[in-house]
Amino acid sequence: MSSILSPSLLAADFLHLGEAVTLINETEADWVHCDVMDGQFVPNISFGLPVIRDIARAARKPLDVHLMIERPEQFLADFKQAGATYLTIHQEASRHLDRSLHAIRELGMRPGIALNPATPAETLTHVLHLADLVLVMTVNPGFGGQSFIPYTLEKVKQLRQMIDASGLDIRLEVDGGVDLRTAPALLEAGADTLVAGSAIFGAPDPAAMIRQLKALG
Ligand code: DX5
Ligand code: ZN
Repeated sequence: MSSILSPSLLAADFLHLGEAVTLINETEADWVHCDVMDGQFVPNISFGLPVIRDIARAARKPLDVHLMIERPEQFLADFKQAGATYLTIHQEASRHLDRSLHAIRELGMRPGIALNPATPAETLTHVLHLADLVLVMTVNPGFGGQSFIPYTLEKVKQLRQMIDASGLDIRLEVDGGVDLRTAPALLEAGADTLVAGSAIFGAPDPAAMIRQLKALG
């Protein structure tokens, strides 16, 4: 089964976001990864609801929304309205993770849980079944274009085992420093969903890069 590719718009030219969405629409890319940052949970601010709404209007593929914000529970309904298909919240940012994951599903979205590099896989033991996606941060969240952190590979392997043991259909997504050099080991470790920002939008030919990343398997 081929992996899902979710290009991150964070690395696109914000003056031409429409062109980036068109590229995703017209290539083998599967989802549209949207990184929302609040300047609190991470030391950066990206874009928010009005921008997501416009991306959703243009996109013909599911929106994979990654919230890097404190207290995400305040905004779950707003992201549904804006057009999110997957809504991923950070384990570290959500005090009542169980409640928030239920709320995301009840709103009609697919719940995801993200883990910072330092957060152990075991923190998900009791709530894994509530998620449709686990996102392993393979860099510290907040910025595009950082180098992949090698020790996160172990966590990907561990989560692959946990997901397989659960028997549930849960996607295992990796985000940060994913490119042609790092993706093969991540796929080998059990990731089935790749986020790539600068590898795609920083490439001389983004459509060719999408093809090459998809061809990895
Ligand atoms: C970082 C974001 C990523 C970012 C990845 O905090 O969550 O989605 O766009 O960028 P690259 O692929 O450039 O590391
Ligand atoms: Zn992301």
